[in-house]
Amino acid sequence: MQADGVLTSVDLEAENQRLARETFTEAGFAPQRFRLIAGAGLEVMPRLTDAGYDLVFLDGDKVEYGEYLDQAIRLVRPGGVIVFDNALWHDRVADPAQRDPETTAIRELLQRVANDENLRSVLLPLGDGLLAAQLI
Ligand SMILES: C[S@@+](CC[C@H](N)C(=O)[O-])C[C@H]1O[C@@H](n2cnc3c(N)ncnc32)[C@H](O)[C@@H]1O
Repeated sequence: MQADGVLTSVDLEAENQRLARETFTEAGFAPQRFRLIAGAGLEVMPRLTDAGYDLVFLDGDKVEYGEYLDQAIRLVRPGGVIVFDNALWHDRVADPAQRDPETTAIRELLQRVANDENLRSVLLPLGDGLLAAQLI
């Protein structure tokens, strides 16, 4: 991030937020450089500022990935990047026999991103798969 950049993190788990605060503080980041919001992504994201973010990273409930994309498209500035973790979902996404809700939601997300003319995307085989899409 730039020197005046601010990280906003939304997480359901207060303990994860506590550890994040401790880690950022120990690393020397001033409190105004990060904003930790406890709550569900779909409750908090609608309250965040339109086009206010350079990068939106999504890694919550896989079944909600489609709704996260709706929110992320609104939140990211033109030229900004949207990233989803677990885009390969333990190799289940590429296996048509797997039809559980998480796998299906991620498969639909990939299709939607690939078909969206306003997104330029790449699927990276890093870890469990990283989908990155730039808003153009
Ligand atoms: C689900 S974990 C995934 C970790 C990593 N992607 C992996 O494959 O091991 C990421 C974080 O999302 C948080 N989380 C899960 N569902 C959420 C939701 N609906 N809203 C906000 N945070 C959520 C969890 O508390 C956790 O800190």
